[in-house]
Amino acid sequence: MTSTSHAQLPVDDATWWRQAAVYQIYPRSFADANGDGIGDLRGIISRVPYLQGLGIDAVWLSPFYPSALADGGYDVADYRDVDPRIGTLDEFDEMVAALHGAGIRVIVDIVPNHSSDDHVWFQEALAAAPGSPERARYIFRDGLGADGSKPPADWTSMFGGPSWTRVPDGQWYLHLFAKEQPDFNWDNEEVRADFRQTLRFWSDRGVDGFRIDVAHGLTKELGESLPSQAEIDAITEPGAHPLWDRDEVHEIYADWRKVFDEYTPPRIAVAEAWVSTPRRPRYASAEGLGQAFNFDLLEADFDAEQFRTIIADNLALSAASGSSTTWVFSNHDVVRHATRYALPPRNGSTVKQGQKWLLSGGTQPVADVELGLRRARAATLLMLGLPGSAYLYQGEELGLPEVADIPAAERQDPAFFRNPGVDIGRDGCRVPLPWTREGTSLGFGPDGAHLPQPQGFGALSVEAQDGAPGSTLELYRAALALRHELRAAETLDWVRSPADVLHLARPGGWHVVTNFGTHAVPLPDGEVVLTSGPLAGTQLPSSTTAWIRTV
Ligand code: NOJ
Ligand code: CA
Repeated sequence: MTSTSHAQLPVDDATWWRQAAVYQIYPRSFADANGDGIGDLRGIISRVPYLQGLGIDAVWLSPFYPSALADGGYDVADYRDVDPRIGTLDEFDEMVAALHGAGIRVIVDIVPNHSSDDHVWFQEALAAAPGSPERARYIFRDGLGADGSKPPADWTSMFGGPSWTRVPDGQWYLHLFAKEQPDFNWDNEEVRADFRQTLRFWSDRGVDGFRIDVAHGLTKELGESLPSQAEIDAITEPGAHPLWDRDEVHEIYADWRKVFDEYTPPRIAVAEAWVSTPRRPRYASAEGLGQAFNFDLLEADFDAEQFRTIIADNLALSAASGSSTTWVFSNHDVVRHATRYALPPRNGSTVKQGQKWLLSGGTQPVADVELGLRRARAATLLMLGLPGSAYLYQGEELGLPEVADIPAAERQDPAFFRNPGVDIGRDGCRVPLPWTREGTSLGFGPDGAHLPQPQGFGALSVEAQDGAPGSTLELYRAALALRHELRAAETLDWVRSPADVLHLARPGGWHVVTNFGTHAVPLPDGEVVLTSGPLAGTQLPSSTTAWIRTV
């Protein structure tokens, strides 16, 4: 494939993100160039033509920084370097140039709530005395009880187990995630200055934007005596929680906005903030990060009414904040949507990070694989027809299922280890991609893969689907190419339709129609341009989306 010029990335386009299709790369599992079983930057470089052919506007790279991998790289030991197992800074520059040359922007992940316990600052904190400036960059406390042997509070971490861990001199430090992920103290000016430096470091290297991990964490309100977990759980007033979604966090993002705006075009940011829908716009405001993930569709069942409400509410919210909305069905933290939709509906139970409701041991409940994929394709074609930006996760363009049967000995996710018998963790959506039908690691690399690929992955490989009519890969390619026309304006109109059907009209005579019901329905008038599955004559079958053009 020929590479295109940088002219595709005009510097004066400050709005490129508003309706972008962003493809998430989980670097360790994307492509491995050197055969050590771990995906790397050279692997990404080698797949730039594939990404260009897919038709995405940007990639978001999950962390590739030096890390002990206690949490898949979200335990960062050095924010301004590349893990030697993944590559070098020179290779990073080469990768950015190759992606930009292909007309693809680059978003990197910033993890500001916590570092790795290997980070030089945490090591300095451990070596220093209680009360020292080194400890003040993190959140250290004395324990309770006469000898301080009880944690300062009984809080449970996001991955299960306690949130406080004791260090040899008797003090305790806070970690809302794994114990290898100590939380920073964001009241500390050194911490703030260091993250500004990190944002400039990557911006100077040509990075176009940032995905902000746990954006609703960072600032905490910890008085002298800490509330109990039960007291915290009882708090319902927005903004009153001592650990999450504090109003003060927006001061940090206002400060970062100044850094983003030092660049042309301004660097963009998207908040990963698991907050209630009404609290989301502030993260997405133009004075703050500019955009925020909206996980509402990801948490919904395949259900017309749920989708209708979520789409309408989020378009209204984003109009109010001036941002564009975001849509996402899959990422590295949740069960892949081809499998989610193959399981019984969850009826409102939420998808918690690290707590998958799925498939104990891969057998219960039994998944209807064919139905799951059919619905996933319909849902994705609907999503790609909506205004706003669409975040796609590597492998969903192949219709990959969640891999449920990874043996315990090969699992890596701390959520698995911290919740024995309760939570199988997130490894099942992080299995290395199949690029070819055959071969050790199915073309992921010249040798093995760091997580085992299941039987049947080869048949879903890029090689197997490339050019195959009706394949999921060709569906994504066709939809992403057409989307450039369809996203001319950020508006949509609802067209009257049966209760189980959503019918949206977009500018330019485009119509997006999804049948969530169990019976085929008549197709509206117009030229059928693309469908997520075969039609039944002039009928739109169950669990199918059609893009129709009337002019
Ligand atoms: C959200 C990330 O997406 C997830 O993978 C990670 O475990 C937590 N934040 C902690 O950094
Ligand atoms: Ca490698």
